[in-house]
Amino acid sequence: MTIRSRNGYEDTRSNGGVFPDQEPVTSRYVGYKHRQQRTCKHLWHERENGKYSIYLSGSAEVDKIILDIETSPVVGKGLHRECYAHPQYENLCIKVLLPYKSKAPLIEAEREANYYRFLEKKGVPWTMLPKFHGEVETSRGKGYVFDLIRDQDGTVSQTLRHYLSSPGETDDHSEGLSLAFKTLRDYLLQWKVVTMTIKAKNILYQKISAKEGRLVIVDNIGNSDFIPICDYVDFMAERKIRRKWRHFEAALRKEYPQNEFVQRELKHSHP
Ligand SMILES: Nc1ncnc2c1ncn2[C@@H]1O[C@H](COP(=O)(O)OP(=O)(O)OP(=O)(O)O)[C@@H](O)[C@H]1O
Ligand SMILES: [Mg+2]
Repeated sequence: MTIRSRNGYEDTRSNGGVFPDQEPVTSRYVGYKHRQQRTCKHLWHERENGKYSIYLSGSAEVDKIILDIETSPVVGKGLHRECYAHPQYENLCIKVLLPYKSKAPLIEAEREANYYRFLEKKGVPWTMLPKFHGEVETSRGKGYVFDLIRDQDGTVSQTLRHYLSSPGETDDHSEGLSLAFKTLRDYLLQWKVVTMTIKAKNILYQKISAKEGRLVIVDNIGNSDFIPICDYVDFMAERKIRRKWRHFEAALRKEYPQNEFVQRELKHSHP
C-alpha cells in the first residue's frame, strides 16, 4: 500500500503488514518518532466513525483521542511546519510538523518547546512572544499549542516581511514599526531571550491601534548550543542578543535595499 499525504509526500516503505485486512478510509503518514534508539513509524488512520487510531511500526492499533484539525484554517506555513487555527479556541493556534524524513524537525520542535517552558519558569511576559500552551495529539500528528497572534480588529497578524515588502504598508506603519523595533530589542535584552537567526518571516507585526503595534517573534527562539551557557550567564546572553540583532538589521538592509525606512532606521546605531 502506498500512503500519500495531503502535500503529496509518498511513503512506499509502509507495506509492513501494519494494517489490518480492511482498507482504511484515510491513512496519513505523519513521520518518525525516535524512541529508545528505535525509529518508529507513526500512522494516523481515520475510521468511518470518525475515530482515529494510531499505528506504530508493526505494532497493534491503539485508539487515541485526537484533535481533528482537518477543517481548521491554516494561518501560516513555513518550511517545516504548518500553523492551524485551533478548532475550539479562537486565540490559540496549533503548529504541526509537515511530513519529514529525518527526526531533525521533531528534535527542533521539542527543543523550542523546552525553551518556552524555561521562559515560563523565569516569568517572561508573553508580550513579544506567543505563550506556549503545551502539546496535543492532532489528526496531523503532534501539535504544539501557542497563542494565535491577532491584530486589534481580530484578523491574524501579518508578518514583518509582509510590511517591509510593500512600500505603502511600510509608510502607513512607519511610526509604529520604528517604535516596535526598539521595544522588541529592549524586551529581548531585558528578559535575556536569546534567538537563533532572526528573520522577517518569523516575526509578526501585531497592530494594536491604527498607529501602534508590536513585533512578536513566532519562530527560531532559544539556542542550539551544545552547552546553553547563555541561558544561565546574563552577560553571555546579552552579548549574543546584541550580535543577533546586528545581523538581523544587516540582513534586512540587504534584503530590502529599496525600502527607505529599513535603510534609514536600521543602521545598527545602537550602543
Ligand atoms: N503564534 C502565531 N500566530 C499567528 N501566526 C503564526 C503564529 N506562529 C506562526 N504563525 C504563522 O505561521 C508561519 C509558519 O510558522 P513557523 O515559522 O513556526 O514555521 P516553520 O516551518 O518553523 O518556519 P521556517 O520556514 O522559518 O522554518 C509563520 O511564518 C507565521 O506566518
Ligand atoms: Mg518560520
